[in-house]
Amino acid sequence: MADRLFIFDTTLRDGEQVPGCQLNTVEKIQVARQLEALGVDVIEAGFPISSPGDFNSVIEISKAVTWPTICALTRAVEKDIDCAAEALQYAKRKRIHTGIGTSDSHIKYKFNSNREEIIERAVAAVKYAKKYVEDVEFYAEDAGRTDNEYLARVIDAVTKAGATVCNIPDTTGFRTPYEYGEKIKYLYEHVDAFAAGKSILSTHCHNDLGMATANTAAGVLNGARQVEVTINGIGERAGNTSLEEIAMIFKTHPDLGIETNINTQKIWPTSRMVSTLMNMPVQPNKAIVGKNAFAHSSGIHQDGVLKNVSTYEIMDPKDVGIDENAIVLTARSGRAALKHRLSVLGIEMKDQEQLDKTYQKFLEMADKKKQLNDEDLLVLVGASASSEESHVKLEALQVTSGKGVTPVAAIKLKIANEVFEAAATGNGPVDASIKALKNIIRRQMELKELTIQAISKGSDDMCKVHVQVEHEGSVYFGFGSNTDIVAASVEAYIDCINKFKVAKL
Ligand code: KIV
Ligand code: ZN
Repeated sequence: MADRLFIFDTTLRDGEQVPGCQLNTVEKIQVARQLEALGVDVIEAGFPISSPGDFNSVIEISKAVTWPTICALTRAVEKDIDCAAEALQYAKRKRIHTGIGTSDSHIKYKFNSNREEIIERAVAAVKYAKKYVEDVEFYAEDAGRTDNEYLARVIDAVTKAGATVCNIPDTTGFRTPYEYGEKIKYLYEHVDAFAAGKSILSTHCHNDLGMATANTAAGVLNGARQVEVTINGIGERAGNTSLEEIAMIFKTHPDLGIETNINTQKIWPTSRMVSTLMNMPVQPNKAIVGKNAFAHSSGIHQDGVLKNVSTYEIMDPKDVGIDENAIVLTARSGRAALKHRLSVLGIEMKDQEQLDKTYQKFLEMADKKKQLNDEDLLVLVGASASSEESHVKLEALQVTSGKGVTPVAAIKLKIANEVFEAAATGNGPVDASIKALKNIIRRQMELKELTIQAISKGSDDMCKVHVQVEHEGSVYFGFGSNTDIVAASVEAYIDCINKFKVAKL
């Protein structure tokens, strides 16, 4: 019989720490419900002491989700643990995730402490958390660079204090798969609680050298029974191990004797939802969920696949939820069809008014694009949610550009309830439009990055634009979507402006 591997999803904690990926509580609930449908065992919902927003999200996710354990992160500090326990009060199953840095570098530079004192602080934190919850996970931050003999002493001590899960993070993404696997094996062999079934080992790998998935798999093959992962591998710097890669590794290799509770057919919609809500594009060649992951372009491969898919395909795209025949909606589709498709994608309309507004946007988009697929719908829902509350709105944009003419843009903005108009020339249509916008909003702001991405295919496609704008020393992230590249770019810029920390423009 296969061994059960527990999936601990940290998209809403480690994933959400990425600049520009922050979600509001409503969006986090949407993602949490989708993770529940996907079948994850644990949802790390936030770091409650870090902000009132995180505290509130843990409360609301705890209320919204039934089956998975809800986990809250803390430092090995009593006030953090008190705060996490309070945030978890409504969770049906709850876990406190507490820990401390154990590498010599963390001990010396972060804590100005010594090895023995760190063990005492780790044990005290676990014991303190145990007063609130039975399920306490301990993390040894920078375990990847902690020597195995000392790490085993720390882990032995915390399991004796009652830690039900011991997390061994390769915080800096430094270890190779062989080394990380050996570390897990060493701990399994030197800490009695694991073989005795009193605690389990967890992996938590970062992708700085592109080895997060390989390290995680090596950890599992050497005794870890929980993996900490994120959707699309999002996370600090180069990201965390991606959930979909781990789930599909063990599904396509049943001989490894590991099974998860993941309903793999929900992988694709979950990936799209997270990418859309977090405004974080998925690289086209990303394993499992990249746009090209199942696209065979070379003649030899196409020929083979047409003769028999097994020649070049190790997974059936349907197994990860990619349905080439997925229903597309058109302007003739009614509200019921739209509501149903959104609900399949994990998005519930809260009332008739929200459905009517979304349907109106849908008709406008269908007018421009004729057929709308799932990705278009996700973009549409994301865009209408943000535009409703916007202080600055794009009312109209007219651009003249082409070869041999100077690009000119005329723009009309609505700020609060007042309309402003301006025009400008530039070295291209986007440049002219942004200069026109700056003629209205005269603030110090500088475009740092602009990325344009088509959603699916065809010259009538929707495009998504991500921008980074610097304003008074801070960088803001904005997103826009439209069938018109220039309009999408300006909308993305305006999305940033709406985030500037100024009361009135
Ligand atoms: O990477 C890391 O070490 C972490 C811990 C806080 C669990 O995210
Ligand atoms: Zn991490």
